[in-house]
Amino acid sequence: MRSTHTMDTAANALANSQRLLVLSGAGLSAESGIPTFREAQTGLWAQFSPQDLATPEAFAADPERVWAWYRWRRTLIARGGVNAGHRAIAALERHMAVVIATQNVDGLQTTAGSHDVSELHGNIWVDRCSSCSAESRQPVAEADDDAPLPHCEECGALTRPGVVWFGEMLPVDALERAQAEVERCDCVLVVGTSNQVYPAAALVEMAVAGPAQVIEVNPQATAVSNAVDVHIPESASVALPSLVDRLDALRSAR
Ligand code: APR
Repeated sequence: MRSTHTMDTAANALANSQRLLVLSGAGLSAESGIPTFREAQTGLWAQFSPQDLATPEAFAADPERVWAWYRWRRTLIARGGVNAGHRAIAALERHMAVVIATQNVDGLQTTAGSHDVSELHGNIWVDRCSSCSAESRQPVAEADDDAPLPHCEECGALTRPGVVWFGEMLPVDALERAQAEVERCDCVLVVGTSNQVYPAAALVEMAVAGPAQVIEVNPQATAVSNAVDVHIPESASVALPSLVDRLDALRSAR
């Protein structure tokens, strides 16, 4: 369980911050009912690992299976929606400038009201043409598993989810924005990531090596837990609202 001292130390670091960078991963959306990547998948997908599905090779070999997996995930996101952790991160904008660099493709941080979100791994609600790269944003809704596979309105080719697959480059603008922010911010909040996938994990390492205060929220220890300034061993939807409450109290007492 998190200690009061840990929470107070983290809240004080936030209270002294003018510019916060949030680096978030799948654990932030876990309590929306969206499985993380390195915990066993549930149900139909238990026999597959994301690493076997989220690749260009998997899509080329079996686009139906890959689309079925993404349609399953779109339905989970549409059903689960924003949780208290997403809302707490959005609420931090009351107190400081907040930039978010997320590995999540669910779009939930933007839905929660955050205004400056860099999606390092793309967005699951975007269809991208596998030939001409034209993009079309899809409505946030439960997927129709029986619908035919989507095709590009521009050139007619098969479209794919607008996300970054293993082995693909990240969107340059999102990554460069996050790298610049690691240099500018005075506090970094690392939430719900195992810090195993690069280059996103390198952002956390840069933060730990830099001058900013680094707070990690994760029920499990990760490779950086001993190097951050504060590790809160708690779920995001419990720890983050509690941090915001403490911050509100500290700021109103000033
Ligand atoms: N609150 C906070 N953290 C949580 C919670 C929770 N409720 N539940 C789980 N976690 C933590 C886990 O302990 C783990 O460290 O979230 C982390 C999830 O790790 P991963 O599943 O590896 O997710 P992530 O780090 O986002 O993966 C990075 O890998 O598969 C690719 O592109 C995919 O963006 C993904 C990337």
